[in-house]
Amino acid sequence: MPKSILVTGSSGLIGSEVCLHFSERGWRIHGFDNNQRAVFFGPQGDTRWNQKRLENTLATFQHHEIDIRDRPAVLEAVAAIKPDLIVHTAAQPSHDRAAAIPFDDFDTNAVGTVNLLEAARRTNLEKPFVFLSTNKVYGDAPNRIKLQELETRWDYADGQYEHGIPETFGLDQCLHSLFGASKVAADVMVQEYGRYFGLPTCCLRGGCLTGPNHSGVELHGFLSYLVKCNLEEREYTVFGYKGKQVRDNIHAADVAAFIEAFSAAPRCGEVYNIGGGKANSCSILEAFTLVESMTGKPQVYTYDEQSRKGDHICYYSDLRKMQAHYPGWGIRHSLEDTFRQIVEAWQRRQSTS
Ligand SMILES: NC(=O)c1ccc[n+]([C@@H]2O[C@H](COP(=O)([O-])OP(=O)(O)OC[C@H]3O[C@@H](n4cnc5c(N)ncnc54)[C@H](O)[C@@H]3O)[C@@H](O)[C@H]2O)c1
Repeated sequence: MPKSILVTGSSGLIGSEVCLHFSERGWRIHGFDNNQRAVFFGPQGDTRWNQKRLENTLATFQHHEIDIRDRPAVLEAVAAIKPDLIVHTAAQPSHDRAAAIPFDDFDTNAVGTVNLLEAARRTNLEKPFVFLSTNKVYGDAPNRIKLQELETRWDYADGQYEHGIPETFGLDQCLHSLFGASKVAADVMVQEYGRYFGLPTCCLRGGCLTGPNHSGVELHGFLSYLVKCNLEEREYTVFGYKGKQVRDNIHAADVAAFIEAFSAAPRCGEVYNIGGGKANSCSILEAFTLVESMTGKPQVYTYDEQSRKGDHICYYSDLRKMQAHYPGWGIRHSLEDTFRQIVEAWQRRQSTS
């Protein structure tokens, strides 16, 4: 019997990449998604195109129109599917959007996660459960690290963080945004199901997860949206920090590869910071230069002095724990490669729309 995987948020960036990755390895794929991204962000966030892409290209993919907030539906479907691996990526993913929709944000991110964890436990799965958490669980505390201002970016001036932010960084007593707080609730629950019940769970605290299949919008999907603006010669707004704020970017395929490594040798209640690391970090100004070099189009932008509330000034993940636990895993897609794929994907999507 082929193994089966349940992916929540299967029409989204990470979910769809995970579906593809495991389908190529012969797994049966079950995806839960109700296109809630279009509700959160409007038509620009619509992910039906990606659902159709999976349905048309993956022979073993089955879509389930399930809202993860619907507890009876989740319990019933998990019991029926009995997956060998659950990868939970469905979320309200925006820091900024959460304040306008606090109930939807918490119900999706926190309660939806508990629905899935409990469904896994009641089904006696004892199979790996991977949760896509976020670096926003650290709130704005990384902004307290001493920084140095370089020509095009901020960087840590404290040698303790030369490799980036480790998993031991504190979560507490800082500003998270409602999104960061709902993800903390889920993250701690996922750890708890690992420690308390012995489920093989892990939280992947993502930096900037990106790739060609993101439905990037202004409030979520930084690189995807930036490239889209460049190609459409649309104005991009930079919010504060002189455009020198730094994010570490990882291709969704490298995230999927890590999930495979974890599922092959799972641990209980683990936490990993997952991003591109320092080598694949860039500031917004550096991202402009890179995209301009690929499209030949100047980036049109305005500058708003007001930074986003709780936004990180400089963040890159310390990848050493992941690499120590899973030495066979490593980043395969460089920042340039990832950029190029995003550019080409938007060009394709625009030419067919
Ligand atoms: N992309 C990033 O930069 C980033 C960074 C850190 C963490 N993360 C986390 O990774 C995960 C995946 O992010 P992504 O970028 O793929 O997001 P995405 O928005 O592209 O995909 C999420 C999918 O979940 C679906 N969804 C949302 N609410 C749902 C619900 N109630 N029921 C069923 N489906 C629902 C959406 O329709 C969407 O297709 C999220 O948990 C996010 O918080 C992402």
